[in-house]
Amino acid sequence: MKDILINKDNSFENYQLDLVKLNNLYCNKEIYLDKEAALSFENMCNDAFKLNKNIKGVSGYRNYEYQKKLFEYYSDTYGLDYALKCSAKPGYSEHQSGLAIDIMGSNMDYNKFEDSEEFNWVSSNCYKYGFILRYPKGREEITGFKYEPWHYRYIGIDAATYIYQNNLTLEEYKKTDK
Ligand code: DAL
Ligand code: ZN
Repeated sequence: MKDILINKDNSFENYQLDLVKLNNLYCNKEIYLDKEAALSFENMCNDAFKLNKNIKGVSGYRNYEYQKKLFEYYSDTYGLDYALKCSAKPGYSEHQSGLAIDIMGSNMDYNKFEDSEEFNWVSSNCYKYGFILRYPKGREEITGFKYEPWHYRYIGIDAATYIYQNNLTLEEYKKTDK
């Protein structure tokens, strides 16, 4: 199932990786994603492009070692408290499943994605392609992470539509009987 819950309490375990390389048009470096997520992401980028919007992936699949390095970087640079709010510990990142992608818009800075002209379009249309904004503003207590306007998670169109229409997080969705 693409809607598996990976968070601080649910490690990335036996999810069957099915990775493909993302088309170069839609990323700024070599990025691998879950096959179904990649196809859908490419469709979303393509439709956005027709509306003069330029979306590119900046980080997709990460292996354990890479996630470990990232977490240690944040912890060593900004302290453990901050690291825990913005980076998953190795073994607990959605990026290890290939189902999550960080994106940037035409201002070319994923950290400033919210200020890009693409952000509004992506945040209100991504559910049609099976993606959700995974760490929304004001839901930090539920998701465990600070607001990340750049991080999108593929869960499939039905689940993403339900989450979007009911303004839920994945944590809340998984508690419904859907
Ligand atoms: N930034 C997200 C929470 C991650 O490290 O997976
Ligand atoms: Zn991310």
